[in-house]
Amino acid sequence: MGAFHILGSIAGFLVLLKVYLKLTTGWCESKVCLVGKTVIVTGANTGIGYEAALEFAKRGARVILACRNEVKAIEARNRIIRLTLNKNVAVKQLDLSKLSSVRNFANEILKSEERVDILVNNAGMASTKSKLTEDGLQLGMQVNYFGPFLLTLLLLDLLKKSAPSRIINVSSRLADHAKLTAENLTKYQGTYYTYNNSKLCIILFTIKLAQLLEDDQVYVFSLHPGVIKTDIFRVMRGWRKWIVDTFKETYFKSAEEGAQTTIHTAIAQGIEKHTGGHFQDCELIPPYKHAQNPKLCLDIWNKTLELLNLPNTYEKLPSKY
Ligand SMILES: NC(=O)c1ccc[n+]([C@@H]2O[C@H](COP(=O)([O-])OP(=O)(O)OC[C@H]3O[C@@H](n4cnc5c(N)ncnc54)[C@H](OP(=O)(O)O)[C@@H]3O)[C@@H](O)[C@H]2O)c1
Repeated sequence: MGAFHILGSIAGFLVLLKVYLKLTTGWCESKVCLVGKTVIVTGANTGIGYEAALEFAKRGARVILACRNEVKAIEARNRIIRLTLNKNVAVKQLDLSKLSSVRNFANEILKSEERVDILVNNAGMASTKSKLTEDGLQLGMQVNYFGPFLLTLLLLDLLKKSAPSRIINVSSRLADHAKLTAENLTKYQGTYYTYNNSKLCIILFTIKLAQLLEDDQVYVFSLHPGVIKTDIFRVMRGWRKWIVDTFKETYFKSAEEGAQTTIHTAIAQGIEKHTGGHFQDCELIPPYKHAQNPKLCLDIWNKTLELLNLPNTYEKLPSKY
């Protein structure tokens, strides 16, 4: 085969790939109105979180942007108010890398809000080196998992009081490539595995919470948003950065497209029966292989409670896995 044919085949493949990606992108079709509802979105100043918050505000919700950088958060709030004319958009400071900040944030919410209908645990990062937080946990694991875990449990009574309500945990397909045990939960395993482990943890948390909340009408979902053109790739260096820079404009989804599954799981009616399930492109997908391990799920739950010094008062025998 000549060079011309090879180049032609590559070009053809790339065009087909683009068409495939466009055709398989899921869009939230729900027309649900959110007037009277309160939604918290973590990491809402940019990327997927911003687009999801914008959509919730468009639908009339009170939206709380839970962000670590207040300046960026205020800019995002002003933009959302300008675009939606919904003035009921608030900023509250939350740094998931500090458990004290998570506790302060939760206390403020419990004081100021009468209800929380939807909690979106969206904020996330990829940590490129081993770094312990002031709480003695690995930074990447804390921001992506331990912080959202604590936040969710602290807001659980309010979510129950506001039922039917939902908890949305933004994970990643990379959870399927984790190397996770309860023993290595606090160990740094490189950027790739630390990130993947955190994303598997949040899926296992979703499954466990859904079991515990099955009589409370608090529905819990995890999701993979796709591969999205956002700031999350800013930490990449070397050949990985080259790949991202080369393909992101053409082949990655926009942040608006990337927010669709978050929005869908947060508001679509009729999916409640799938509580504990994992979604992609606005559809329920089969659980990843590591997410089908009930022992791992229980071990991680117990170890997390121990690491966060939380009592196991949430426990209840699951009637289903
Ligand atoms: N983009 C993708 O291809 C992709 C794929 C799979 C899963 N995801 C997941 O999707 C979620 C959203 O990511 P994104 O792609 O939209 O990335 P992004 O644009 O980088 O947004 C991440 C958000 O998390 C916030 N954040 C980071 N560290 C925080 C901390 N310590 N406390 C509070 N907030 C913090 C960031 O705040 P700052 O702006 O202040 O940094 C930002 O608002 C993440 O959970 C990510 O893992 C993304």
